[in-house]
Amino acid sequence: TLLPPPAGLGSLVDTARLLVGGDKGLLAIDESTSTCNRRFARLGIAQDEPTRRAWRELILTTPGLGDAISGVILVDETIRQRTRGGTAFLTVLAQAGITAGIKVDLGATPLAGHPGETVTEGLDGLRQRLGEYARMGARFAKWRAVLTIGDGTPSRACVTANAHALARYAALCQEAGLVPVVEPEVLTAGEHTLARCEQVTEDVLHEVFAQLDTQGVVLEAILLKPSMVLPGSDNPTQDPVDAAAAATLRCLRRAAPAAVAGIAFLSGGQSGDLAAARLAAMNSPALAPLPWPVSFSFGRAIQEPALSIWGGQDANTERAQQALLRRATANRDARRGEDTS
Ligand code: 13P
Repeated sequence: TLLPPPAGLGSLVDTARLLVGGDKGLLAIDESTSTCNRRFARLGIAQDEPTRRAWRELILTTPGLGDAISGVILVDETIRQRTRGGTAFLTVLAQAGITAGIKVDLGATPLAGHPGETVTEGLDGLRQRLGEYARMGARFAKWRAVLTIGDGTPSRACVTANAHALARYAALCQEAGLVPVVEPEVLTAGEHTLARCEQVTEDVLHEVFAQLDTQGVVLEAILLKPSMVLPGSDNPTQDPVDAAAAATLRCLRRAAPAAVAGIAFLSGGQSGDLAAARLAAMNSPALAPLPWPVSFSFGRAIQEPALSIWGGQDANTERAQQALLRRATANRDARRGEDTS
């Protein structure tokens, strides 16, 4: 049973619940221009605006996308674009029954005095930008903080600065009528163990929720977008799916209040198959009941095979869309506890 929403934020709570309701999830296509170009370059795809537009059009016009995807996270360039036929991307989404979201952070920049660590920027002028996106029709927003596990990292300075920025962003979103997706990403890069990742992720989440509380953010009207608790990608010991799923949920149960509308994981460079298998394990009866819906907000784990198949060639569009839909559908199945990938 869901309690009545807090006064004044009813529509935000409804949006948050809709985004994680049933078995659909979020699709992130909010790569910055430089990240998108880097992924294109690796596949020999042209790195320019028309090609980025064509790729995003391919994704958004995939037949049946709305059966597995409740919301798509766009980026400033994309939210203003149109299909080749002249239909605004925002209209394409509305027609597919998909809610539009927008990435609003301006990226991770080096944190002064802390080599190798970053703080995410973009608070200056954010109120005005959020207002414009809300008027355009966006219903939710995203801000990503980045934490690295290493010798002495993440530092207190990095954890607190990023948590503070996430909370200021989230409060501004709720003021503007947008559901904030709060994304503290603990990177998998490194040799650390699963246990270390669990400890760091729990510590980061405690700080994030303390700052959200300080800024008066209403938890029923946010989504948390965490990284899964995983061993470092350079650690030769890669724990089984069930162990990672159990560690992730143990960590989240300790640190994410039950009031949070939903958890929507990022994929963080995992293969599509592994991301779906871990999501299915977390939604398996063995780990139920969960305090919140456990969903996905994947970028690479949904886009990756499709992008290679497309390769920038019109002739491959249909096959690429089929591959994209397969990944989206596998994650929808994973939300039901079924690993079909
Ligand atoms: P990945 O799933 O590729 O990590 O992307 C999700 C995202 O939005 C990262 O900010």
